[in-house]
Amino acid sequence: MGGVISTGKEANVFYADGIYDGKAVPMAVKIYRTETSSFDKMDEYIFGDRRFDYRVSPRDKIYLWTEKEFRNLERAYEAGVRVPRPYAYMKNVLLMEFIGENEIPAPTLVEIGKELAELDVEGIFSEILENVKKLYRRAKLVHADLSEYNIMLLEKPVIIDMGQAVLIDHPKAMEFLKRDIRNLVRFFRKLGIKSDEEQIYEEVVGEGDEA
Ligand SMILES: Nc1ncnc2c1ncn2[C@@H]1O[C@H](COP(=O)(O)OP(=O)(O)O)[C@@H](O)[C@H]1O
Ligand SMILES: [Mg+2]
Repeated sequence: MGGVISTGKEANVFYADGIYDGKAVPMAVKIYRTETSSFDKMDEYIFGDRRFDYRVSPRDKIYLWTEKEFRNLERAYEAGVRVPRPYAYMKNVLLMEFIGENEIPAPTLVEIGKELAELDVEGIFSEILENVKKLYRRAKLVHADLSEYNIMLLEKPVIIDMGQAVLIDHPKAMEFLKRDIRNLVRFFRKLGIKSDEEQIYEEVVGEGDEA
């Protein structure tokens, strides 16, 4: 294990030199807190998701949450969505591809801040929307906490933090999707990109040909 990348309310993230398939790979280790996690907030993302809808103790809920993030990442990764490749999980620990270089994590959009204006903002926005679309159509998932905080930029945007993502048949999936789109539209509007929430929503869920 190497240095601390992030200490959050629900989880800490560390750097680690990992081995996967006999090869050395840089990894991010996400460790969910078992004492201070907001267990109740997790309920609306667990119940209603038919893969995980059963009642459990608080500690088991964290383990379930860790498994849920792993499986969400796996589904997204297999669908070709740009997310960290998941490697393994056990209890409250998740191992995944490290997004960054030389042990330094790539910045999130919120960390880049104003300097984003000097980049190809339109290109970045459309890449993100492509990912959201693939996530919905191929992986059949809605991220449900998508914002500038959970998108890193390593040449291309990389979507992270998928514990709360739900299958598209979750009762609140469409509400979550609309909120995700609203967050993105709001953030990119400040960077001069005009876009229409409703139109993006239709494009994501629509019966179009490009699945
Ligand atoms: N795979 C990864 N590679 C490198 N850094 C990561 C990775 N996943 C998360 N991080 C870093 O850790 C921070 C927190 O991770 P995140 O999954 O968003 O957890 P939370 O928001 O629940 O604390 C991110 O903002 C990012 O800086
Ligand atoms: Mg996050």
